[in-house]
Amino acid sequence: MKIAFVGKGGSGKTTLSSLFVRHLVSVGAPVVAIDADINQHLGAALGLDDEEAAALPAMGERLRLIKDYLRGRNPRIASAETMIKTTPPGEGSRLLRVREHNPVYDACARPVDLDGGTVRLMATGPFTDADLGVACYHSKTGAVELCLNHLVDGHDEYVVVDMTAGSDSFASGLFTRFDITFLVAEPTRKGVSVYRQYKEYARDFGVLLKVVGNKVQGRDDIDFLRDEVGDDLLVTVGHSDWVRSMEKGRPLRFGLLEEADRNALRTLQTAADATYELRDWERYTRQMVHFHLKNATSWGNERTGADLAAQIDPGFVLKEGLTAAV
Ligand SMILES: Nc1ncnc2c1ncn2[C@@H]1O[C@H](COP(=O)(O)OP(=O)(O)OP(=O)(O)O)[C@@H](O)[C@H]1O
Ligand SMILES: [Mg+2]
Repeated sequence: MKIAFVGKGGSGKTTLSSLFVRHLVSVGAPVVAIDADINQHLGAALGLDDEEAAALPAMGERLRLIKDYLRGRNPRIASAETMIKTTPPGEGSRLLRVREHNPVYDACARPVDLDGGTVRLMATGPFTDADLGVACYHSKTGAVELCLNHLVDGHDEYVVVDMTAGSDSFASGLFTRFDITFLVAEPTRKGVSVYRQYKEYARDFGVLLKVVGNKVQGRDDIDFLRDEVGDDLLVTVGHSDWVRSMEKGRPLRFGLLEEADRNALRTLQTAADATYELRDWERYTRQMVHFHLKNATSWGNERTGADLAAQIDPGFVLKEGLTAAV
């Protein structure tokens, strides 16, 4: 399952992504964690020190390698130059799997040891001056979108993405690439307004959105969230001393996380697992085509000098069980 954490700045996306990753790893699930925020914090939240976090390879700087690997022998994609963030896979493309070894993971993922197991961590990379003005073409999160569009994840496999709720993911199709999206909201008007905006974008694309209340203190906070978001409220998390200890550079064993928070993480997993049955790979493929055409006409054709609509393989549906082109 592909799971995104979104929400207002500072709401706790990174914290809850990292706790969820720790939870999944602790129950033995294979997990790829992706930091899709240009302000990189997921590595630190997973326990990397500054040096280790800074040494994480940036996916955005390895786009060439990612594109060349993924396009494989797809005859519709003539070169990496004409492959944009929304270029969909087709016959001859290479696909990614959660558990395998491949050159994309070799170049972009690093193993991070957690209590009870290891997670593969990938990061889009920080925003640099060189990105200004070419945000569409070289979009850092474009690398994440490309990978998700070429990823075939199975039952009991997880990809957890720490995202911003920003406009970047709406301009592209990134916000539609998940089985479930957890919107982290503090019990405040601002927290809830980000939810409303997200819900609005999500509505037309069948995005499954659930609210995770964070930094919730008491009944009044829960009532507020319930009043504002109704049944979209999945679970709430209170202040965690475990998290605070981590922030002080005194990490505790994951087993010492507060019981209420452990239960909340189980609720998140149950909600994510329940989406497996609802999967619709045809719709998933159709949506990537939709966003590809949108990006092609709005900037891609002009920028690449190619007719990017011709990259679409009309007979192709991304799904489990496809054999990878070698
Ligand atoms: N449940 C919690 N208990 C204690 N502290 C928390 C909790 N959730 C978040 N925090 C703290 O709140 C701060 C912001 O959290 P975090 O960095 O996860 O938010 P974010 O949404 O990822 O922010 P950004 O938008 O900057 O990426 C951090 O200092 C974090 O430790
Ligand atoms: Mg963050």
